[in-house]
Amino acid sequence: MTEKLRHVVPYETGDGSMTLYDEERDIHYRSFHGAISESRHVFLGATGLLERRHEWRVAELGFGAAVNFTQTVKAFRADDGVSKLVYHSVDWRPVTAEHLEFHQGEGGDLARELVSRFHSAQDGQDRQVRLESEDGAIDVVLHASPWHEVDLAGVRAQAFFHDPFSKRVNPDGWTREAFAGAMAAMDESGRLATYSAATSVKRAMFEAGFVVATAPGPGRKREITVASPSAQALQGLELLEREKYLGAPQ
Ligand SMILES: C[S@@+](CC[C@H](N)C(=O)[O-])C[C@H]1O[C@@H](n2cnc3c(N)ncnc32)[C@H](O)[C@@H]1O
Repeated sequence: MTEKLRHVVPYETGDGSMTLYDEERDIHYRSFHGAISESRHVFLGATGLLERRHEWRVAELGFGAAVNFTQTVKAFRADDGVSKLVYHSVDWRPVTAEHLEFHQGEGGDLARELVSRFHSAQDGQDRQVRLESEDGAIDVVLHASPWHEVDLAGVRAQAFFHDPFSKRVNPDGWTREAFAGAMAAMDESGRLATYSAATSVKRAMFEAGFVVATAPGPGRKREITVASPSAQALQGLELLEREKYLGAPQ
């Protein structure tokens, strides 16, 4: 049986956009200050995805309430300079189509179709679901497995949305190994972005071999973290000193 996550309910955030709220664990799937604002600033914005031309290749840890996914589809369809979107997302506990009813438009339809195929395929035995938009321009794959079991080598993501819950809830998502997996999924010119600005997170990124920078956060949040396999991809951002973090106390 797949989990139906009945303790996860829709939640309206500060900018009027929707996310999900886990009542058992008291966690929001996106910032309760503003789901869409956070998604557009931290993930679509700070990864530099919106400036890319021709093709967008995205990988994500945490499909969750699909706000990042639906915002990416929306931005993709609004941009004449890009004709292909490839999106790989990993989530070990995909929500159901019912949870995603608040999403409108093509992204919402694709997100609901993805999770319902997962929940109905031999009742969740098929852990990888691939879907294509009607015109073939969008190719999305949901990997319904723990992050450390998924191999995204070959995806060559230009944008990596690092979006598990906080370290308190999802410690596995913030380790050196987790970031090494992200690195393997990325193009050399790609950028990974995450909402966390914790010292331990930056250290784990350095340990995995990333060049690491800070960027301004959304709303009242002071900073977020952006990382890349190459320093060149982080031009314009404030680069952090590797030695300072690798020597930092736990
Ligand atoms: C913050 S939510 C993602 C929000 C989503 N990106 C959005 O825009 O709505 C975090 C998600 O990460 C998933 N997750 C956390 N740790 C994971 C892991 N180690 N492997 C796979 N999925 C994980 C959780 O199941 C949860 O759905």
